Amino acid sequence: MERLVVNGGCTLKGEVNINGAKNAAVAILPAAILASEGKCIIENIPDIEDVHCLERILRSLGCGINKIDDNTLEIDASDITSVNACTEEVRRMRASYYFIGGLLARFKSARVELPGGCPIGVRPIDQHIKGFEALGAEVTIEHGAVAVKANKLIGANIFFDVVSVGATINVMLAATLAEGTTILENVAKEPHVVDVANFLNSMGADIKGAGTDIIRIKGVSALRGCNYSVIPDQIEAGTFMIAAAATRGDVTITNVIPKHLESISAKLIEMGAIIEEGDDCIRVTVDKPLKGVNIKTAPYPGFPTDIQQPMSILLSKVSGRSIVTETIWENRHKHLDELKKMGASVKVEGRTAIMDGVEKLTGAIVKATDLRAGAAMVIAGLIAEGRTEICDIEHIDRGYPHIERKFRELGADITRIRVE
Ligand code: EPU
Repeated sequence: MERLVVNGGCTLKGEVNINGAKNAAVAILPAAILASEGKCIIENIPDIEDVHCLERILRSLGCGINKIDDNTLEIDASDITSVNACTEEVRRMRASYYFIGGLLARFKSARVELPGGCPIGVRPIDQHIKGFEALGAEVTIEHGAVAVKANKLIGANIFFDVVSVGATINVMLAATLAEGTTILENVAKEPHVVDVANFLNSMGADIKGAGTDIIRIKGVSALRGCNYSVIPDQIEAGTFMIAAAATRGDVTITNVIPKHLESISAKLIEMGAIIEEGDDCIRVTVDKPLKGVNIKTAPYPGFPTDIQQPMSILLSKVSGRSIVTETIWENRHKHLDELKKMGASVKVEGRTAIMDGVEKLTGAIVKATDLRAGAAMVIAGLIAEGRTEICDIEHIDRGYPHIERKFRELGADITRIRVE
């Protein structure tokens, strides 16, 4: 078992390069199975546990995988031998549900274990199922797995009841090879949704409107391999922006798309931080005391739920009261119980956290209760007095590549230790 040990009190300074987006990569890898001929060469893939897990699932389905380097994979899906994704790995991660849409599109049949993922709330897939059924698939859930089959898939108009990243991408995958046109309404507009649509279009799909409220997909007869590079990770970038502000540092975050970070930049500016945008970088500095603000998470372009937890750490140590309202997940304040061990003044009422900024946090032994909570606790350790030890860091490794190395390069005192 490993832990991260952080000795607080540093001021982060320097440059940090952002990796490819986790939530784009974990959809693009399963989407590669749609190529019935040719290989997909995918660059800028983050070197994280969720990606390693997907590589193993792809192999188990019969895909050829050639790891060109730590961030580039060549995937040959021309000879897939199985439509059965029922392993412990599939159960462990969320994005494995993209194999349902992908296999259904290409083979009209799939059996995929129900997905796991971070314990941040009930995570239904009813909207995915509604989409598959509208395209003509029969969907059953038995023995903990989703089974889908269809004689053929036919384009349909689908209006999602909730804005869902997963359902938008999954039904988009299924519709790429359907007969006729599919119109998806009330879709998610996150940058990774657009990235997956761009990837599918590079494979020969005909998808228009990704990034708006309506996506139109004209079915094509087959998709082929392509070369593609994953977009930069909006959430990893936001995490470093917040860490820079929290330590009153001076950090330039490179390989980002500043437009994707606007809601985070706007909140940091409202708090009193200085944000300078370049073409593909953002510099965060602080020259005066920061003050509390209110945060309400919302689908893109709103404030991302995945940044709410790191942001609440920063808010716990600035002057004044902040109110953090989580509208996407019903159980995404668990990290605040950990933060209380470090001296934070927080009251959680349902989906709302009321935070009164304290003068100081003090190091403690805390848990990474989920992925973004883990990154949040690293930031807490950086701004606390003394030593913080973070347990259960396998959550962090699922989504942040080389987190301790990146923070160390900015001047943090952070090490990974092994414990029995
Ligand atoms: N929802 C339904 N029915 C569905 C699908 C979703 O009611 O069929 C609800 C969910 O319960 C939730 C809301 O819709 O209240 C949004 O869920 P969404 O489907 O958008 O979430 P997801 O696709 O399961 C992805 C990211 C999450 C991120 C959310 C929201 C991946 C693998 N995961 O999850 O990322 O929080 O979108 O942006 O892309 C993370 O990276 O730490 C993470 C949890």
